[in-house]
Amino acid sequence: MPEPISAALLRRLERAARTAAKASYSPYSKFRVGAAVLADSGRIYSGTNVENASYGLANCAERTAIFTAIAAGERAITAVVVYTPTPRPTMPCGACRQVINEFGPDAGIVSVCDSKHRAVTTLAKLLPEAFGPRDLK
Ligand code: THU
Repeated sequence: MPEPISAALLRRLERAARTAAKASYSPYSKFRVGAAVLADSGRIYSGTNVENASYGLANCAERTAIFTAIAAGERAITAVVVYTPTPRPTMPCGACRQVINEFGPDAGIVSVCDSKHRAVTTLAKLLPEAFGPRDLK
């Protein structure tokens, strides 16, 4: 289990996720999502959802943030913060859970929204008994 992150770091992640949502390319769903991930280097990477006229090709905010971290050379993430423009927090989709598992099986997950409500959980709770890298060894 990773150490719990400080309130100050969580605020930075939350701000990064909210800011990232402003760049959302979501002309079809009009659902502007932002995400920020904390890498084990201590750096924060953010991302937003990127949709496509071929709807099934949409990439979620979480995966954009994770792929950006990996492309920068990171290999482990310890926290994921998701912002959705909703009255209640929403959870990462199944595909994103699997991608989070690849790089952060012990990651903490925090979902924030347009109200004071938030959800705080772990990837292990969202994707129990996951298939992952170890299964291919
Ligand atoms: N979406 C995300 O970016 N993250 C989530 O956790 C849920 C869904 C995006 C995908 C699509 O662009 C839009 O939200 C509607 O599903």
